[in-house]
Amino acid sequence: IVKRRADYQQPDFLIQTVDIHFELESHETIVTCSTTVTRNGKHDKPLVLDGEQLKLLSVKLDGKEQSDYLQDETSLTIHTLKNEFELTIQNQIDPKGNSSLEGLYQSSGAFCTQCEAEGFRKITYFLDRPDVLAKYQVTIVGDKTLYPYLLSNGNKVDSGELADNKHWVKWSDPFNKPCYLFALVAGDFDLLEDTFVTASNRSVKLELFVDKGKAERGYHALESLKKSMAWDETEFGLEYDLDIYMIVAVDFFNMGAMENKGLNVFNSKFVLANEQTATDEDFFNIEAVIGHEYFHNWTGNRITCRDWFQLSLKEGLTVFRDQQFSNDMSSPIVNRIKNVRIMREHQFAEDASAMSHPIRPDEVIEMNNFYTVTVYDKGAEVIRMLHTLLGKQGFRAGMDLYFQRFDGQAVTCDDFVQAMQDANNKDLTQFRRWYSQSGTPQVTVSDTYEQETGLYKIEFSQQTKPTFDQAEKLNLVIPMRFSLIDQNHNQQLNSVIEEQIVELTEQTQVIEFSNQSSKPVLSLLHDFCAPVKLNYAYSRSDLVALMLKSPDDFTRWDASQRVFSQCILQLADQGEITKTQSIKDTVAVFDQVINDANLDLALKTEMLTIPSFESLFQQVESVDVEQLRKSRLQLLEAFADTYQTQWFDLYKSIQIPKYEYTVEQVKQRKIRNLVLKYLAASQHQHAQSIIEQQFLTADNMTDSIGALAAAQLGDLAEFDSLMQQFEQKWQADPLVLDKWFALQANTDRADILARLELLMGHAQYTINNPNRVRALIGSFAFYNVSGFHNIDGSGYKFVADYLIKLNDINPQVASRMITPLIQWQKVDVKRQALMQHQLMRIGDTPGLSKDLYEKITKSLP
Ligand code: ARG
Ligand code: ZN
Repeated sequence: IVKRRADYQQPDFLIQTVDIHFELESHETIVTCSTTVTRNGKHDKPLVLDGEQLKLLSVKLDGKEQSDYLQDETSLTIHTLKNEFELTIQNQIDPKGNSSLEGLYQSSGAFCTQCEAEGFRKITYFLDRPDVLAKYQVTIVGDKTLYPYLLSNGNKVDSGELADNKHWVKWSDPFNKPCYLFALVAGDFDLLEDTFVTASNRSVKLELFVDKGKAERGYHALESLKKSMAWDETEFGLEYDLDIYMIVAVDFFNMGAMENKGLNVFNSKFVLANEQTATDEDFFNIEAVIGHEYFHNWTGNRITCRDWFQLSLKEGLTVFRDQQFSNDMSSPIVNRIKNVRIMREHQFAEDASAMSHPIRPDEVIEMNNFYTVTVYDKGAEVIRMLHTLLGKQGFRAGMDLYFQRFDGQAVTCDDFVQAMQDANNKDLTQFRRWYSQSGTPQVTVSDTYEQETGLYKIEFSQQTKPTFDQAEKLNLVIPMRFSLIDQNHNQQLNSVIEEQIVELTEQTQVIEFSNQSSKPVLSLLHDFCAPVKLNYAYSRSDLVALMLKSPDDFTRWDASQRVFSQCILQLADQGEITKTQSIKDTVAVFDQVINDANLDLALKTEMLTIPSFESLFQQVESVDVEQLRKSRLQLLEAFADTYQTQWFDLYKSIQIPKYEYTVEQVKQRKIRNLVLKYLAASQHQHAQSIIEQQFLTADNMTDSIGALAAAQLGDLAEFDSLMQQFEQKWQADPLVLDKWFALQANTDRADILARLELLMGHAQYTINNPNRVRALIGSFAFYNVSGFHNIDGSGYKFVADYLIKLNDINPQVASRMITPLIQWQKVDVKRQALMQHQLMRIGDTPGLSKDLYEKITKSLP
């Protein structure tokens, strides 16, 4: 069952055209699919089609019914074939019974599809692989009242009425596409319409479909779409290519969204928003995901992947593009920090686990398991390094050549790098190792200074430790952006040497600077220029200098996080928490940050934020997680106490007029909500009343959630009472309640498991909806450290029990949710044993899905 990248073979047959016909019924949908097929090359192999959970009704070759075929659980084999023929397959499927949300499924009334990666085979027998590109015609027949909208890819070319209150619509997509980009949606929706005029003056119809009654929550998504379309034109010269662009928001969806040609399907979480129901973060994410799916039209759809091992070809590149877009739309530093947190908290964790894999994996059992932070986010970091090495113009030249060479084709990561290489005349041979090598590289830096000669030497060395999947590691190309700062922290401009970029390619490299009047402070890893761990023995005073004077905002923030982390890790290491002097010294450092009136509010907020547990966890080897959690909390409380007055003044000083989603207001709300947490944590005498006041008077969801998050750190009785009011208000709105479920699930309390049981019985909770499961069970497993890692093993058992149930319902979601359990490598041995025991239990589940099987077999020692 293991598939290997090295085994790639061209398809034996190609499909030119697809004419597919759907007769929609909840439990008995009839699919009739006619394809024109040609033999690819000279051979006499049979045609082997992929298909799963299909009830086959008939097979016709050139119009003649066949009986000479072989059928098994996952395929249909047809022998004796001409070199060119028409194949018609009729089969039946059960969309309403499909709880996996893959293939064609029906949920809350509407039909919808999810075909990436290998879901089309749950619709009909087909060559379900991305290098088979065909032109599609789609006819959908359905009940007129239940499904007034019958949608598919491309342009609507015909429609009509039928008997029995039925109607039909026919769609035609002029672009060749792989079947994973096929989409069908049928249902009743509110429709928002708009138009976008392209740079070449073509008018594109924009249509956004949302649940009835939710139209007014769709405008932000629609605006985001227009911004995305304009941005891709100005930044990359890329225009939209069809006359219509449709987006449908659905409540039941396994992932964020899907870039089906001309018909994106979205998790409603990434479409629906108004200030009452959505936080600033939701608004941000919607813009980013709308951008992401839109950008796929060129990086993914026009040029697609030859095989699924190449997934990062489209995902890494498209994530990089959406990150650049977000940078241009909002605060670049906040955005960059967000990217880096994902890397440090989740991607580094993946690389340290048994699921470690290169951004272009070599072996896969279940493809859905490889839609990972490694393929997506590390993939984007690899693209970013190319951008750094080639410069903005060089990168653009490479992109242009890529489109020129490969438009309309299914290609590989190597093809992409080759285009970058050829357009820039730069040898990227060694750089390509980023595609084949897993693991988080460590860059270790040391320096020496000679007073007499003024010579300053920096030594860089790189090392990637063996990972679970790969023992041998080679040297990578690591672009290092850095600068030197005058030790006296002069603010004169000439005290900062212009930023340098060195390409680290060797195991060790030395760089020298002469004529330094004193030992400079090293400002390293500007803008997180490479996805590495940086080791350098920063002194406290170096870090303070960086926080205040580094020319790079990311490095300023990173220095602040290092100050906090050093102290917390030291406390955790003591075993017993005593080091009050160290805490005092650490906290004192931030006085200047708090009082710096010229500091950008967004950067200030980030610098004053204590590192998350998850990012601390990635900096240690084997740790008592409870000790680490307590150490973090101890520092947080000391920090909160020390600056009580300042928090209070800061909170009061920021007055925000009526809600608007603007960069400025977002910054203001964010710092207010951060200091509100510190007021709660320090039990400031007015904390409770301020929280209550904010909760009651908030004109937006950001501040309501901000108040609840603060209350969660204070008195739990008070928290519970506010939570109750929130639930009352939003009981009919599951998308909003997800925020409430998540807050419930990550609360630190002794009776957490009993609470979770109760919440699983909540009227709005259902195991069938991935958003609910992620909000409740996911928040607990990923973020409730005291509950999940309870030393009695009850947290692990709770999650395992749940995954055993979820395995039968939705294997994809179960497989995502097992992540915290398979990441046992860094915890203490006692907990390791408890986690492994639960993995073994899940492994014994009858009917275990491929998804869970792959992760469990990899992660059990
Ligand atoms: N291509 C989609 C995106 O990045 C993700 C779809 C993945 N779905 C899945 N079931 N694996 O936007
Ligand atoms: Zn994507």
